[in-house]
Order: sequence, then structure tokens, then C-alpha cells
Amino acid sequence: MSSTNDIRRSFLDHFGREGHQIVPSAPLVPQNDPTLMFVNAGMVPFKNVFTGLETRPYTTATSSQKCVRAGGKHNDLDNVGYTARHHTFFEMLGNFSFGDYFKERAISLAWDLLTKEWGLPADRLTATVYHTDDDAFELWKKIAGLPESRIIRIPTKDNFWAMGDNGPCGPCSEIFYDHGEHIPGGPPGSPDEDGDRFVEIWNLVFMQYEQENNEIVRDLPKPSIDTGMGLERIAAVLQGVHDNYDTDTFKALIAASSELTKSDPAGPGKASHRVIADHLRASGFLIADGVLPANEGRGYVLRRIMRRAMRHAHLLGAAEPLMHRLVPELVSEMGGAFPELVRAQPLIVETLQSEETRFRQTLANGLKLLDEATGGMNKGDTLPGAVAFKLYDTFGFPYDLTEDALRAQGLAVDRAGFDYAMAEQKAQARAAWKGSGAKASEDVWFDIAEDQGSTEFTGYAGTEGEGVITAIVKDGARVDTANAGDDVILLTNQTPFYGESGGQMGDAGKISGDNGFEADVADTSKPLGRLHAHQATVKAGSVKVGDAVKLVVDAERRNRIRANHSATHLVHAALRHRLGGHVTQKGSLVAPDRFRFDFSHPKALSAEDIEAVETEVNAHIRENQQVTTRLMSHADAIDAGAVALFGEKYGDEVRVLSMGSGDEGNYSVELCGGTHVNALGDIQLFKIVSESAVSSGVRRIEALTGEAARRWLLDRDNRLREAAATLKASPDEVPARVAALIEERRRLERELAEAKKALAMGGGTAKEAAGPEQVAGTAFIGQVLDGIDPKQLRGLVDEAKGRVGSGVVALVAVNEGRASVAAGVTDDLTSRFNAVDLVRAAVAALGGQGGGGRPDMAQGGGPDGSKGEEALAAVRETITKEAVTA
Ligand code: ALA
Repeated sequence: MSSTNDIRRSFLDHFGREGHQIVPSAPLVPQNDPTLMFVNAGMVPFKNVFTGLETRPYTTATSSQKCVRAGGKHNDLDNVGYTARHHTFFEMLGNFSFGDYFKERAISLAWDLLTKEWGLPADRLTATVYHTDDDAFELWKKIAGLPESRIIRIPTKDNFWAMGDNGPCGPCSEIFYDHGEHIPGGPPGSPDEDGDRFVEIWNLVFMQYEQENNEIVRDLPKPSIDTGMGLERIAAVLQGVHDNYDTDTFKALIAASSELTKSDPAGPGKASHRVIADHLRASGFLIADGVLPANEGRGYVLRRIMRRAMRHAHLLGAAEPLMHRLVPELVSEMGGAFPELVRAQPLIVETLQSEETRFRQTLANGLKLLDEATGGMNKGDTLPGAVAFKLYDTFGFPYDLTEDALRAQGLAVDRAGFDYAMAEQKAQARAAWKGSGAKASEDVWFDIAEDQGSTEFTGYAGTEGEGVITAIVKDGARVDTANAGDDVILLTNQTPFYGESGGQMGDAGKISGDNGFEADVADTSKPLGRLHAHQATVKAGSVKVGDAVKLVVDAERRNRIRANHSATHLVHAALRHRLGGHVTQKGSLVAPDRFRFDFSHPKALSAEDIEAVETEVNAHIRENQQVTTRLMSHADAIDAGAVALFGEKYGDEVRVLSMGSGDEGNYSVELCGGTHVNALGDIQLFKIVSESAVSSGVRRIEALTGEAARRWLLDRDNRLREAAATLKASPDEVPARVAALIEERRRLERELAEAKKALAMGGGTAKEAAGPEQVAGTAFIGQVLDGIDPKQLRGLVDEAKGRVGSGVVALVAVNEGRASVAAGVTDDLTSRFNAVDLVRAAVAALGGQGGGGRPDMAQGGGPDGSKGEEALAAVRETITKEAVTA
């Protein structure tokens, strides 16, 4: 018996030998189709190659493509567990010809593989062809030698395959395997074709046309081939079993869940084991491809799958969360073919465990409510929509989980009632928002959010993607189209553009589409916290609601933002480490060219603090550890030590960013919805450029990373060089040289002052040599000094008092037109003369007022520096007057 892994290998090798390029499976999240939730067929990654939009270095290819059919158009979720062949996750084996071979070789390659390589008996095989496809009919006769009775013409869509309403399409030919007479069912096209006897194993599509809106609009550049064979189905055939869940991979997964729950895989829990095995594969592969549980979009499909499995784990009596404990078995079965599963194993385990731990808290209560509500019901009855809504809203039961739970009892759920209750709740939320005083301009966002739901952000993983225009807003109102020159806000169902939030600025970039449509996006905001609004200017062409567009974020700018954002987390940790746990973030701005980080701390950082923070952050950057992101419940994240911002609103689910290693675990663990570097080395370099106060108790650091930091340092270096050149010194000598210059300048200033003083006093002392002037019998030294610093006056007056021994001194200093005056009276004369009076008289003569001091020393000043001599005359006059009165 061949294992499923062997069968995959042998399929790829068969086509590889026939010259096909073996192409690894593309991720489950479509990279080239905005309208598709998940890749659901092997040809999806090649869509643009078929239509000629894209060329590859090969014209034939083969792959085993991961597919998910849950949510969206192809939804098999409800049937999983109860049928032999439904899966949410499966692999599609395929071979493709892009204008290379066509029908004949496609049929011949398929026939050879099935009958020669794999040895399936030809008489067990039946083919169908599209009713008008005579070529294919003849080829089956010629190549396979099938009798006409086993080449069945089918007139329905079953034999005309299309990717969707848009995309490549063509007539197809399906190969059926007859499991034998003992199984009920008829050949395709017969009234009992739905039985299990004839099972379609391979679909060969003769791709010839392209559809738009469900209508054939053109021929493909060249007739092409797309085939699809479910690996699980062919494994069942080749392993001689009738049921996909009896193949090796599923048996191993079911054995693991049976072992852990001590429950018989074939007993009453049979369906539950199958659901768990299927959903484990879907969840594991989706998480490995970057989908995490969320309340909308792809994340919600994943959550529905996970929770459905978790209810079945509960049904099997699992006392502890079960799903994550099955991951090792999944990885051992499939990790060889899909290395992404091995890489993501820790994330898969953690995501499943945290989701199940959380869901179990409400699951039992929800089931109790469900039991009560259905207590009096009989087979065929319908559960009111309001109850299903309560289960959804309060207990986290996705709608299909409730349906699944009632299935065994033959009960249905009132879907319309559920939808009504949901709409009602949204209306209430809107009313409450309005009541809170929000601006009328928010109305347009509510309308849009109601129509399109939240925008799915696809930009954690990359910076490019496709989307469908869901709304255009111009001058605050919704419009249908936008034309060249228009400034509009474009909304899409999904986008890689980050909308400004949490301090991180929105992304800029370009949006383009068919017919030459091009728009520049200057910024992206996030109205209502859940719509991504691209502020765009249409440069060329036009766009309308419903158009598919390509969204390309300015990746270089985003990279700088990422580096800056991750650096804020490191700074936060470094500040707490250096300054203490009281440091908490008070705000931040993460821009492409710099970032700002506000935090609580009572005083300015010292130069040593700044240096220590810089050193520590740069050390973590150099260690270059991977940054990890986990999705957790808010409470779990806080328990795990994550730093949350007080007053910030977090959903019940948060992203937890962990960086670097510290003494106990990660160096930094924070809740954050922003975009971050993959590894800390991507930050390259970190430099604080300013530290200041924002308000009392709040400090602000401004900093740079990467090239901006290097430029800043370079600029500093250049200035140092300039200074060195001016000093005619080397940069190393600059500090000592500057200190020496300052010292020298101080000395020169001192000498200059002395010299000026000496020069100014020179005349006076010469005159004094002949003995001081006598005024009313009192010795008097009076002088007008030019260019003397007024601060020196008192000292000069004291000196003159010393020289005169007994007498009066008055000195006027003239500086820049103004005059200052100081007067002194030797102690023996203070009973006769008052320095204050003398100064006041002088001040008046200088055109000023006042003057003050003590009887032995007083000072003042006046605006009219030209009246120095008049001031001295006024002093003489006052001496004379006071001498008389005394
Ligand atoms: N694309 C074809 C299918 O999915 C082969 O059936």
C-alpha cells in the first residue's frame, strides 16, 4: 500500500519526468486574487499565467496545492465529519499546460499515470466529457480504448469548469472510479449518480476562454490544460478503502485523538474524530500561512473551524484542551512535504491552545443554554434566531457551530432571525456611537462599515496585495467613481496599507487597476478603528466601486516605520530597566523619519542615562533575534507579563510582540497592533537625538534608527571636522582646544578689564598726585570713566576712598551712551555727607531718577551719558551744600 506521501511524490515525479516544472504549493491566502478568500483549486496560483498576464520560465507545471474550502463560495464546512469525502482542507494534485500541450496529451498523461504507473484496472474507470466536446470523446476512445458506454456526455455545468465569475474556464472531462457493485450508486449522468459507487477522482479542464461577470469574453492566448485530483480521494482508491478518513494520514490523526480522549474512533464519537482530524489540518495549515483567529474575514473562518473542532473535542469528553496536543502528529504526517508546518509548529500549538482554553470557558455555559432552549423541541423544529445570536454574542458560538450542534437531533436554526438580531445589534452600536457626540461626518464610515464590514488588513506579512474597491468617498460623501485629478478616499475589502493607529503613522503607496488607473496614496487612516481609508489622488484613468485593484505600499517607507516602531518597544524596556518600573509609555509617534516616545519620569535624564539606554538598545539590535508575534486573549497577555498601555482600548484579542531576551524570558513584551521588524538587526542603529520635558512628570525622547541615525551621526562628525579645521587641530583635540580657548579668553578678558581700568584711572591718579581736589574744605576725587564696566565702579570707588584717606569720591562710568554713577564717603565723614544724596544729585544731572545705597557707598544711573561732568558738578554742589548745613 502506498502512503499518501508516496502518492503525492509519485504524482509529481510522473509529471516531472514528462518535463513539467514541479512547483511547490502556494500559500493558502491568495496572492493574486482579491475576490478569493482561500486558494480552492490547484490552478489558482497560475491564474494569470493562463490569461497571459504573467509569464513563467516554464510552459508546463505540476503541483500539489493546499486548498481550503470553507467560507466563501465553496464551503464544505457543514458536511465535514458526516460524509466520506468532504474536507475543509485538502490537497489538489494537478498538471498544467500554459499553451503547451492540449487535450490529447492531457488525456494520455492522465491515463498512463492511472493505469500504468498506479495500476488501476481500466474497467473500473469511466470518463465524462462536455456534451458538445466530440474531440475529447474521440480521444478517450483512441487513447484509453474506453468503450463508448463509458464515455458519458454531460450537458451541464458539471462539465464546464470555471474558476469563478471571472477568470479562465473551459469544458472539462472527469474521470470516475467505480468502487464496485456492492456500493449503491449509478454512473455520472444517471439518476442515482449521487451514490458513492462512482467517485470522481480527476478533473481535466481544457482551458480555452476567459470569463468576466460569468460571461465568456475572450479566448485565452492559447488553449491550455488545468487538471485537479484530490489527493485524499486518490489515496483512498489506491489504499483500497472507500472513505477518505480511512486513509493513512487521517487514520494516524484519528488514532491520536482517540488515544488522548480514550474514545473509540469507530464508536459514537466517529464524526467528532473526523471533524477534529480535518479541522486540525485546516487550522494548522492556515496558521502556518499567516492566518490567525479573528472576528472577521479569513481569521473568522479559521476561528469557526477551530471552535467547531473544539466542541467536538468536548463531545469526546476531553477534560483538557485537545487540539494543540494533536499538532505533533500532524507535523509528523505532513511536515515532510510542507516545511512551513514544521517552522510554524510552536505558533500553531500556542494559537490552538490559547483559543481552546478561552473557548472552553464559555462553551459549557453555551451548551447548557442550548440544551435548555431545545429541551421541548422535536425533530424538524427550528431554534429561534435570537437564541443562536445570544450563543454567538455571549458565548462565542459561531453560527455554524450551533447548527452543527443541533444536527444530530434533527433540529434547524432560524438563519433569518439570527441575521435580524445581528443587524439590530449593529444599529444599537451605531446609535450609541452617535449619542456619544461623534461628528456627523462619522456617518459615512458607519454606512460603509455596515456594507462591507471591517477592512481586512493583510499587511503584517507583506506590502503588496489585491483588493476590491468597496467604497469611494469624495468631499465626505460616497460616490461610485473617481477620475484623474480627484482627491478621494478609497476603501477596499482587504489591504496591506496600515491605517494610522497606536502612534504608528499610516502607510503611503500606490493603488492601480485596469485601464490605466493609477492613484497615489499619501496616507491611510483608520476610521471607526476598523476601516482602512486610503487618502488617494487619482493620477490617471478612473476607478469605480467593484473594481479589482492592486495595492502597493511604499515598502521602503514602511520598513523605516517598522524599524522605528520596534525601536520604541526596545526603548521602553531599556528605560524601565535603567530608571525603574515607574516608567510607562505616555504616548508615541512612529513616523518614517524619526520617532518620539513620551514616558512618565520625574526628572531629566542624565547624559549617563541616555548613554546607557542607547547602549542597551543597540546591543539588542546587534543580537538580531527574531521578533515574535502571538495572538492571545487580553487577560492571558497581561498574565504573561505583556506591557499594556493604560487607557488604550484593546479588543478581547491582542497581538503580543516579544523582542530580545532578558533576565527572565523576553526583553520586551508588549501588546501592539503595529508593524514590526522580523529580526531586531533590521533596526540597524539607534540614536537618541533629544530629551525634553512634555509636562510635569512626563519626559520625551526623540530618536532615529537605521540610515537616519547614521546620517545624523555623520552630520555631527562633519561639524566636528569643520570645527577641528577651524582650530587647525585634529577632531580628537577639539575638546581640549576649546577648553583652552575658553580659559585663554577668560584670562584675556580679565587683563583687558585691568588695562581699561588702569587706562581710565591713569588721568585721575596723575592729577591726584598733586593732592586731591578740595571742595568746601573736603578732599574730593571725581572722575568720568569711559568704557568701564559699571560692575567695576564700586571697587574703584573703594580703591579711591583708600587713596584719599578722608574725603568723598564720585565716579561716573559711561557705557554705550548710558551712565552709571557711584559715590563713596570715607567713614570719618559719613556724619557730614551722605553718599545716597550725592548719587541722587548726580543721577538727576544724568537725566535719571533715584539711586540708592548706604551713607558710605551708593549707586545709580541715568540715560544721558554725555552729562558726566555735569553729574560731578552736581556732586560738588551737594558737598558744598551739606558742608554748610553740617
Ligand atoms: N481546476 C479544476 C478543479 O478544481 C481542475 O476541479
